[in-house]
Amino acid sequence: MEWNEISLELAKEVEKAVMPLFGTKKAARTVGRSPSGDVTKFVDSVAENVILNRLSPLGVNIVSEEVGTITGESEYTVVVDPIDGSYNFVSGIPIFAFSFAVFKNENPLYGMIYEFVTGNVYEAIAGEGAYLNGERIRVRKAEEGKYALSFYTRGWGLELIKRVKRTRVLGAVALELAYLARGAIDGVLDIRNYVRPTDIAAGVLIAREAGAIVMDTEGKELRFSLSAEEKGNIIAVNDERVLKVVLDSLKQNTF
Ligand code: IPD
Ligand code: CA
Repeated sequence: MEWNEISLELAKEVEKAVMPLFGTKKAARTVGRSPSGDVTKFVDSVAENVILNRLSPLGVNIVSEEVGTITGESEYTVVVDPIDGSYNFVSGIPIFAFSFAVFKNENPLYGMIYEFVTGNVYEAIAGEGAYLNGERIRVRKAEEGKYALSFYTRGWGLELIKRVKRTRVLGAVALELAYLARGAIDGVLDIRNYVRPTDIAAGVLIAREAGAIVMDTEGKELRFSLSAEEKGNIIAVNDERVLKVVLDSLKQNTF
């Protein structure tokens, strides 16, 4: 079986298990804590059980948000977030997604993001491009004066708000990277030192394969380890000019 078939099958299984819980109190119940320190909600554990039941027999290494890292005897690692945007999910806000990325040793091979509410499937194959429902996608050309960014900050870089036309904070960073890849926005920034590899592993591959530039806050190519504990920042944009505006704003820190 191919990775795209496995990931889609899994996404649909997760969908079936979790959608009856959408917007419910039961979904929000705290059942534990993830390796990165966040609370695990009931819906997260339901979704993750589906993943583990399906992936464990394959013998691959699994990095998942709630359970952490399960090491197998394989050169393949699956980095998965069964529900990115779980706050939105339990609050009845329809912006959340399934995120699945496969690495061979440290190298990304395949990424997939499934948007439950629309049924959209975003995919990327390393070196071959990014796709939305099988059609090739690319980042859009940034138009000066019209930049639209998803921007998560706790104050750093607020200057940027004055230099772009639109800002959004949608609460599902994986999906926001997919929106960047298909040309709906010009960038995704999360500079709270809070983003985890499980949130971004698929989205970074999809965005890069669609032509995005993905950096850290120093303007260096973003790197992250395949771990459930690491936390960091991300700057993903469609264009060098947008990157410059972003990095300049971070330097003029007034917070
Ligand atoms: C969250 C989303 C959100 C980001 C949070 C993450 P989760 O993931 O990606 O966009 O702002 O930092 O924790 O916990 O809903 O999977
Ligand atoms: Ca999650």
